[in-house]
Amino acid sequence: MIILGIETSCDETSAAVIESSGDRVKLLSNIISSSLPMHGKTGGIIPENAAREQIKFIIPVVEKALSDAKIQVENINAIALTYGPGLIGSLLVGVETAKTLAYVLDKPIIPINHMIGHIYANFIDKNSEPRTKNQEPRTEIQFPAIALVVSGGHTDLLLMEKHGDFKLLGGTRDDAAGEAFDKIGRLLGLSYPGGPEIEKAAIDGNPKSFRFPRPLIGSADFDFSFSGLKTAVLRETQSIGKLDKQTVNDLSYATQDAIVDVITKKTMKAALKYNAKSLLISGGVSANQSLCDRFKVLCAQLSVKFFAPQKSLCTDNAAMIASAAYFNYKPAPLEKITADPELYF
Ligand code: KG4
Ligand code: ZN
Repeated sequence: MIILGIETSCDETSAAVIESSGDRVKLLSNIISSSLPMHGKTGGIIPENAAREQIKFIIPVVEKALSDAKIQVENINAIALTYGPGLIGSLLVGVETAKTLAYVLDKPIIPINHMIGHIYANFIDKNSEPRTKNQEPRTEIQFPAIALVVSGGHTDLLLMEKHGDFKLLGGTRDDAAGEAFDKIGRLLGLSYPGGPEIEKAAIDGNPKSFRFPRPLIGSADFDFSFSGLKTAVLRETQSIGKLDKQTVNDLSYATQDAIVDVITKKTMKAALKYNAKSLLISGGVSANQSLCDRFKVLCAQLSVKFFAPQKSLCTDNAAMIASAAYFNYKPAPLEKITADPELYF
């Protein structure tokens, strides 16, 4: 089955083509045009600007995804799209483009929750080699699995019993992990988005310099809270005054360490409670190497198989949306598909 995926929930305009059969999803193309550099100048995303960029790029991006995949548009079997959550102006561009294509080409269309999409980045084949005829089915990911979505908008822990069967165990009560990285990055004078910048700065940070609180780390539930961490960093920066480079590195280390500590402790607690065979992490923050390294060690101790998407599929992309559509193949009537910015699990 050949699926064209379309993702426009925020500041990335993305289209991808996958070829799937059995348990395997092979990526034929994945084009991402990001308006991120533009938002760097304003220190965050202005929704109106993001939507305008989506309109500019959606058609060229879809065309490039098809041509890179060497697929004629009439040969795709289905169209998958993100219908929420996200910014309404951005979402509408992808939703209307996908519906128009589906109508004109008379193809099935599958609406996908962006957050579920992130999880399905883990089901895309890592090697880009052409699939051989007798290749074994992909059996590495076993259920029950714990799925962790850590992005700019979400920190959610889910129990996944099988494809499409998700139970929300907990989520953030205030700022998401990525949002905390971004806001703290701004406090430290780093550029937007803060996550990758803090990761880079933390490499040269002294682990003994600062220690920030780990909110909710010992609570009985699976919820997260990161706004207190932001306040703690704010107080520290106010008491220091002008920040030199080494202090920024040290504060970055302490920030990352606190976030990684809370996320990994709570996630492994869930893995233990639900006898998870696999852990699937996803979302922009799952690109963080310290987070992955810590998870690898903890999962090995509990004999849980650890999965993280390849780096380029951690942040927003259309390949994950197409992958989610393949494993949850539920075409919907065109008139039922509308953008839903507040969509949750
Ligand atoms: O999944 P994503 O691309 O968009 C949303 O759906 O929100 O995630 C973006 C978030 C940003 O907050 C960014 O700072 C964070 O992911 N991020 C990282 C890293 N790369 C991206 N956070 C920590 N370490 C990274 N390497
Ligand atoms: Zn996302």
